[in-house]
Amino acid sequence: MKTPNIGLFGFGCVGQGLYDVLNHSLNDIGQIKKICVKNKDKKRPLPLDRFTFDKDEILNEPEIDTVVELIDDFEEAYRIVRTALENGKNVVTANKKMLAHHLPELQDLSVRKNVSFLYEASACGSIPIIRLLEEYYDNEPLQYIGGIFNGTTNYILTKTSLQGLSYEQALKEAQEKGFAESNPENDVEGWDALFKTVILSYHALGTVIDFRATPRLGITTLSPKETEFAKQRGYRIRLLAYAGAHSEKSYISFVLPVFVDAHSPLFDTNFEFNGVVTEGRFTSRQFLKGKGAGGHPTGSAVLSDLSALRYGYKYEFKKKKFSNWEESPNYLLHVYIRTGSGSDFADAYLTEKDEFIQDRQNKIYLGWITYENLKKLVPVLKKEKGFLALIGEPWNWEKKDNEKWFNLKRIKELQLI
Ligand code: HSE
Repeated sequence: MKTPNIGLFGFGCVGQGLYDVLNHSLNDIGQIKKICVKNKDKKRPLPLDRFTFDKDEILNEPEIDTVVELIDDFEEAYRIVRTALENGKNVVTANKKMLAHHLPELQDLSVRKNVSFLYEASACGSIPIIRLLEEYYDNEPLQYIGGIFNGTTNYILTKTSLQGLSYEQALKEAQEKGFAESNPENDVEGWDALFKTVILSYHALGTVIDFRATPRLGITTLSPKETEFAKQRGYRIRLLAYAGAHSEKSYISFVLPVFVDAHSPLFDTNFEFNGVVTEGRFTSRQFLKGKGAGGHPTGSAVLSDLSALRYGYKYEFKKKKFSNWEESPNYLLHVYIRTGSGSDFADAYLTEKDEFIQDRQNKIYLGWITYENLKKLVPVLKKEKGFLALIGEPWNWEKKDNEKWFNLKRIKELQLI
């Protein structure tokens, strides 16, 4: 077993978290030889000789065999990671935006160079979901992966609804605690959760979803109307990320607000906790919950990757051969749509309408919408400052047209149709 010699890029919340967890780890997991940072004037908790401002001091240093990339700028992160892999170094990264843009290419490069390329910390913080998908579910077809993948929005939603904080106060706290991205728009507009969905669906389903074409709505246009609706019907509001297969060749994916009821495991997934739900053909439904943001929980995921490097661990992407899926345009989703009282465009997008509520300011529609129409409606709603949320999670919907892929297969196997 070889203990890595580490070159660390970035010494922010996660970098310092890693430094702490390495110092308190049960075994010798590796030595940080150099830390590369950008800002020369910033006061830091370690002596100056631990730092460099020149990335080549790490990338071209033969003694350093492992690069840990924990910086904010995703384009610079890509250049660092690519060069490190090209130079034959193992790489551990937490940069979900960079991975969502470049994952297959960087994975191919790591295979060509025969080095490890690990990124457990990029999705859902302390929940060891990527390793689980790779090692435990490696041979089992999965129907979907979904849940709460962003700590900041969940913190805001919990603090505002359970403790009465304003949106601004809750966001400020999430920033102070180091949960939020340096540009928190990435959190509250749903981008961060979407980038994590790209990473997790690659490992869970084998497919690289196109995040630019994925329906995405954050929590910025949530209004007191939704809080009132949730209270009246016993719901809580969460931001749901999801990628799921609906036939052997088709899938849907999205990041959207959702009303969940008390039976949902996401109902009591509060504050910066994340929750992942997945369903295997043999295991059936499973739920994992843990801290999804913060220096120490995320640092612990990096530590676990470094520990795995000591015995040469690499992801194998066993699901990759099931790629090339297409979107499922006719899949039906159960939705709540709010528009201004003067707008009447939303109705036309629905396949079925269950309820209509109107007051002086708002029109609210409850009903079923096809995935194809959802994709068209979300940008219109954004422009009109309207709102949309799912009613319950897809794994709970009972809609005949949305027959579950596993059930259909099972029925065919049993020769019932
Ligand atoms: N901003 C992210 C979150 C950090 O709130 O979940 C962890 O990826």
